[in-house]
Amino acid sequence: MARFYVTTPIYYVNDVPHLGHAYTTVVADTLARWHRLRGDDVRMLTGTDEHGQKIEEAAQAKGMDPRAFVDAASEVFERTFAKQPNDLLTEPDDFIRTTSPRHVAVVQDLWRRCAAAGWIYEGEYEGLYCVGCEAYYTEKELEAAPPGSTEGPSCPIHKKPVSKVREPSYFFKLSAFQDRLLAFYDKFPGFISPDSRRNEVISFVKGGLQDLSVSRTSFKWGIPVPDQAAGSKHQHVMYVWFDALANYLSALGDPAKPDASPTLGGAPLAKYWPADLHLVGKDILRFHTIYWPAFLMAAGFTDEQLPKKVFVHGWLTINGQKMSKSLRNAVEPRKLSQTFGADVVRFYLLREVALGQDGDFSHAQLVARYNAELADNLGNLLNRTLGLCTKLRSGATTLAADPGRGPLEEKLEEAARIALAGAAAGFEEVAPHRAIDSLWALARAANKYVDESAPWAEAKKGEAGAARVDAILATALEVLRWLSVLIWPVMPTVSDKLRAQLGLAALAAPSGHEGADQTVLSFVRTWDASKLSLGTPIFPKIDAERQEQIFAALGVAKAEPEAAPAKGAGAKGKEPKKKEVAEPAAEITFEEFTRLDLRVGKVVSAERVPKSDKLLKLQVDLGEPAPRQIIAGLGKSFAPEAMVGQLVTVVANLKPAKLMGLESRGMVLAASGESEADLVLVQPLRERALGARVK
Ligand code: MSP
Repeated sequence: MARFYVTTPIYYVNDVPHLGHAYTTVVADTLARWHRLRGDDVRMLTGTDEHGQKIEEAAQAKGMDPRAFVDAASEVFERTFAKQPNDLLTEPDDFIRTTSPRHVAVVQDLWRRCAAAGWIYEGEYEGLYCVGCEAYYTEKELEAAPPGSTEGPSCPIHKKPVSKVREPSYFFKLSAFQDRLLAFYDKFPGFISPDSRRNEVISFVKGGLQDLSVSRTSFKWGIPVPDQAAGSKHQHVMYVWFDALANYLSALGDPAKPDASPTLGGAPLAKYWPADLHLVGKDILRFHTIYWPAFLMAAGFTDEQLPKKVFVHGWLTINGQKMSKSLRNAVEPRKLSQTFGADVVRFYLLREVALGQDGDFSHAQLVARYNAELADNLGNLLNRTLGLCTKLRSGATTLAADPGRGPLEEKLEEAARIALAGAAAGFEEVAPHRAIDSLWALARAANKYVDESAPWAEAKKGEAGAARVDAILATALEVLRWLSVLIWPVMPTVSDKLRAQLGLAALAAPSGHEGADQTVLSFVRTWDASKLSLGTPIFPKIDAERQEQIFAALGVAKAEPEAAPAKGAGAKGKEPKKKEVAEPAAEITFEEFTRLDLRVGKVVSAERVPKSDKLLKLQVDLGEPAPRQIIAGLGKSFAPEAMVGQLVTVVANLKPAKLMGLESRGMVLAASGESEADLVLVQPLRERALGARVK
């Protein structure tokens, strides 16, 4: 029996679960389910990352003791992703918390092993730190502050100025691992996926590695560095990434119990170590592919005992916008699954974006895919097949595929085998979008098969056509049965519903009734017609009116300024309300219009103007030698962090003016709404060169 240990990153508890977290967890759960279906011995792990400066500051901001703060926040993640039942149907086998004693014990042990082997030394760290990333940066990795700004350079991910840190620290001799890491990447080319990420890491490591500060003394919320001299002036807590990465080990065993221990203490490897797959977002690539293997190497792990694969996925934007706190409302996992159903959300997350690439979560696209691929393809296949069984063979007790089989059935059976191979390869190669592609190709082929084989025409032949009708219906049912098994990793409750209508028991992997391999059963199966039951459609179509209601309830229209044209049935729901259109202003000539210099710009920084709830101070890059300062009345509609990175349309030749004592050189266009808190940016639909003319 093969073994499969898959992990998600552990989530920082200063945030609430959002779509980004849901994304990785759903991918991990789907792959775990696939392996369970195959009969593998699977372990899926998720959990929370609860130490460090960021969390300490978040607790302080709420006036809470960090312990009480993390307990409450971790519970929300556990409820969302781990407890049963939950909103996304994810079923991890374990939920690890970095504040749990079982974790602390393993991390301290890992530290001791690295220290005993001589890889940790004491010194003083002086440099730059981004609390948002909990990461050290060098000057050249940062984004320069706009000219004239009093702020220092910013973190490329959080776009906020980094802090200068100077404190006593323990260092990990990362520099000594450069060659061994490169040799390891060479020996195990599958360790980092996709290849573009692997190349990125290799060239970074080739550029030289600096020793890493692995302890902090300027705050307390962390795991104490073990074996510090009692009463020494500086008490060190571990750098949060040294602590966090070890979760993948600590969840597997307690070093105090040698039999369960993962290599620590020289004990036998725990059952599931090394991890088969760490799923991570692109922002945490280096931690997992450089620091993590180096820590393990330092602790005495052999190359064969290191994790097998780190798969790096991209980031999702929401309706074309960078995810920000103000946008999260519409994409909170709970709301999404209450609105569309957890299976549909899972399907969409896996289907829309090729895993590894950046992508967009768009509500309109979700509805379009739902209608086209779930309602019109899979749903239609189920409804029409069962409908035909009732209509053409009511009263039949059995539907036998033999002896009426012919070339069309053979062709479909071949398509089913290709789909099975494609699904298996997709799930196993961490490409769930490809697996779904294969399965939906099969559903399409089966719909086409029903059209071509035309059982209604055969039925008109009376007795002479009866065997043929049976063969067609049994074959279509068999494809549905295959699909009910193969979609289970993606849509578990849809699988149950589909099977119930086919008169089959729900799958219950891992002890399951049917594994994926057993789906390669005979296409000459005889169906018990009395057990078939055409129930309510699993995927009722979402029409324009329903879409409008859904979007209104989610507040999507407001969060979707650029509103990509919805495909299919959805398009109408997005039309603006006519009643808001004001009287047109006095006419101008074309010549007058051309006097307006409208340009595409990008907001590089944003902050509130003190003492104003309406004004934001923006630095906008218009492709000119330096960004421009624009004071914009957008503060009631947008948090400053939601503006950073946005493409905007700017009136570039507006006479400079002073607002609350600050110079403003231009105006950012926004469409008005119900109030000043309901403005929507006027943005180009796709990336444009900065400074591009709008006319
Ligand atoms: N605590 C660290 C991970 C430690 S693992 C030993 C952390 N936590 S996080 O909560 O900030 O991020 C967790 C994961 O969510 C990361 O993989 C990150 O890439 C992912 N996402 C956060 N926002 C995202 C999107 N908008 N889109 C897709 N995934 C994103 O980093």
